[in-house]
Amino acid sequence: MTTSGHQAVLVQLEAVVAENLERHLACADDWMPHEYVPWSDGRNFARLGGEPWSAEQSKLSPIARTALEVNLLTEDNLPSYHAELARTFGRDGAWRVWVNRWTAEEARHASCIRDYLVVTRGTDPERLEQDRMATLQAGFDSGGKPPLHACVYTSFQELATRVAHRNAGSACEDPVAERLFARIAMDENLHMIFYRNLVRAALEIAPSLTVRAIADEVGGFSMPGTVVPGFARRAAQIAQAGIYDLRIHHDDVIMPLVRYWQIFEIEGLDAEGEQARQDLAEILEAQDARAARFVARRWEARAARSARAH
Ligand SMILES: [Fe+2]
Ligand SMILES: [Fe+2]
Repeated sequence: MTTSGHQAVLVQLEAVVAENLERHLACADDWMPHEYVPWSDGRNFARLGGEPWSAEQSKLSPIARTALEVNLLTEDNLPSYHAELARTFGRDGAWRVWVNRWTAEEARHASCIRDYLVVTRGTDPERLEQDRMATLQAGFDSGGKPPLHACVYTSFQELATRVAHRNAGSACEDPVAERLFARIAMDENLHMIFYRNLVRAALEIAPSLTVRAIADEVGGFSMPGTVVPGFARRAAQIAQAGIYDLRIHHDDVIMPLVRYWQIFEIEGLDAEGEQARQDLAEILEAQDARAARFVARRWEARAARSARAH
């Protein structure tokens, strides 16, 4: 369908946006980020007469540190996400209220993760700042997705972020971090529900077009953090540690939404919609197979490492 077809669906979705905005506002907590940071752990750095950062001050394992850095730098890039969403969904009505509200909620995430990391000396604050500068200067470009694709992408991305935060929090082995990341993950879950409901409504308005958007976005999905310096290397380490890997992505992010939307049960698809559904089935199968290969290789590598260690 043409861009005007997508725009027509967007117009028809307006009432659903308003309804879900109201639902979101009724169930979102106004939680206080400062309540989640262990301030008494903090002390001055060198310029104020204190001690500069050094690696042995961090109580985090190297992989927990990496996961927190990637999650934080991804959250840091919020100005780009805001610009992308405002461009995609327009700057009027319920969409404007939603995008601004969403932005305000998301801004808490980077601020309290950074507070946690700096106060606990969990990571090198100088390198973190350099990486933040590089990430924001790179910006995030979604490639000009049509609105339906953006709703689908954001559903998956919010769920992926929820899972990534929760698992990163657990990897810290610190109850304070675990509580902080569980709290952030609850926000991401509500964000996911907002977009998931829009996609469900879109499946009723324009089923074939929406299944095409889902097939495209499942096939082409990449995390918003790809512009973070060293992302590929850091993401590979995070996957090796089982914090976020292909198996988790397929089982805990992609499939729950595919099932929720009942893609393989819905009726009334035209020929293009049927083709999109078939494409999606093939993409899912290939992703599942890739996930299985990844897990098998990881298991072999771990077994080899422990054999060498003995
Ligand atoms: Fe977030
Ligand atoms: Fe979110």
